[in-house]
Amino acid sequence: MIVLLSRSKTFIPSFRRVFAYYSTSLPNTLDIAGKKYDTDSNYTNVTPSILSHVNENLHLRKHHPINTLRELIENTLNSVDNTFKTYNSFSPIVTTYQNFDVLDIPVDHPGRSKSDTYYINKDYLLRTHTSAHELECFHDLLLQENITNRGFLISADVYRRDEIDRTHYPVFYQMEGARIWDRSSLALLKSDLSKLENKLLDIDKGKNIIRLIVQDDVSLEGNPKQNYMTMEEYDLCSRHLKRSIELLIKQAFAQKIKNMTTADINQTTTELNVRWIKTSFPWTAPSWEIEVWWNGEWLELCGCGLIKQDVLLKAGYRSDSTIGWAFGLGLDRIAMLLFEIPDIRLLWTKDERFHQQFRDGAITSFKPYSKYPGSMRDMAFWLPDESLYVELHENDIMEIVRSVAGNLVESVKLIDKYRTPDTNRTSLCYRINYQSMDRNITNQEVNKLQELVQDQLMSKYNVILR
Ligand code: PHE
Repeated sequence: MIVLLSRSKTFIPSFRRVFAYYSTSLPNTLDIAGKKYDTDSNYTNVTPSILSHVNENLHLRKHHPINTLRELIENTLNSVDNTFKTYNSFSPIVTTYQNFDVLDIPVDHPGRSKSDTYYINKDYLLRTHTSAHELECFHDLLLQENITNRGFLISADVYRRDEIDRTHYPVFYQMEGARIWDRSSLALLKSDLSKLENKLLDIDKGKNIIRLIVQDDVSLEGNPKQNYMTMEEYDLCSRHLKRSIELLIKQAFAQKIKNMTTADINQTTTELNVRWIKTSFPWTAPSWEIEVWWNGEWLELCGCGLIKQDVLLKAGYRSDSTIGWAFGLGLDRIAMLLFEIPDIRLLWTKDERFHQQFRDGAITSFKPYSKYPGSMRDMAFWLPDESLYVELHENDIMEIVRSVAGNLVESVKLIDKYRTPDTNRTSLCYRINYQSMDRNITNQEVNKLQELVQDQLMSKYNVILR
């Protein structure tokens, strides 16, 4: 869910695009968080339902699992050498330059498309990742007098048009981390690395130990270093990056088992398998992802790499002067693992039965208070003739369901797709499961929602219901 580069979606091929949500009544301007933005019928695809999440700031709400996890990671990383400056209140509205161009994300990258990203107009969008703020934070570090304070952590809400299921929500939280060193003082990098390694050893002397079993192919094959760095710099910097992320994973899971085990056991050791995978991001080289083995599958938690010199130059650093790393991790996914939260919508619930369970700020498992039954509806339709065809992406269908049913929808799945060989018509069938986390919903209510979804799909995309 997190990695910008690994997003691929069903595109139902297109001829022209019409914008869905305000198509009949797109206002000339949108007032978001106290500022006015001009709309643009070719670009604007934010919906009132999405905009209602701006300013919710779950990551700053006392005792909310996202906030607890953010604080835990900030404290863990700063417990080593107190180097990270924290930024937790950047506005989610950024320019295409901040979100994409500055990071060298190619113009044809799928992450830029209107089917994946919420645009306010041609130039402004809801950030799709916290990397959108890297440049200003690097620049900010450059201006600081205290040269030893050379790292930052940014936590914020990010927005992506996406599928609907228990782990995907169009708004989620990321934490971006970065650290830099002057190349003229490699001794500092070396001592920072040994402090970090000592910290990892120290944790192992504690009561509840997470032993990380790490798979890591450290060769540069297929993931080359940047030319301006020496092998030694590459080696030190990438080790500092990897150990920092391993430290935060280890601490977070140690906190979890601390609350699972009884007080009279002297020491417990739990093994956790993690692996580093080579990958690529346009603004880091080399680049990696870390995955953790959890409940029988590899889960990706974080993308990272050594910052490309180009980003540092744009932020005002002297050529060949600085090396560093950056990571971006998904807070919701880690919080769901740690607090055993089965459905991402729970993070957004206002139900006290959820919030009262986390009042002490500890990492404890969520106890379901009630499981309200779901109600399934299938929606089968023909795509229209070419002459009436309007571009339709699977995410457009998701968006209609989201804007009609909000948090009353648990999942939407394509269950059938076929093309008639003779008439060349395409039929799709989606299964929608309506279900609330907080209450019972009546059949009547579900019928009404389903009707609204179908009406919108017909009127905006000319589909023919079957
Ligand atoms: N922003 C990337 C994502 O959302 C993660 C990342 C951050 C990768 C920083 C490299 C460096 O997938």
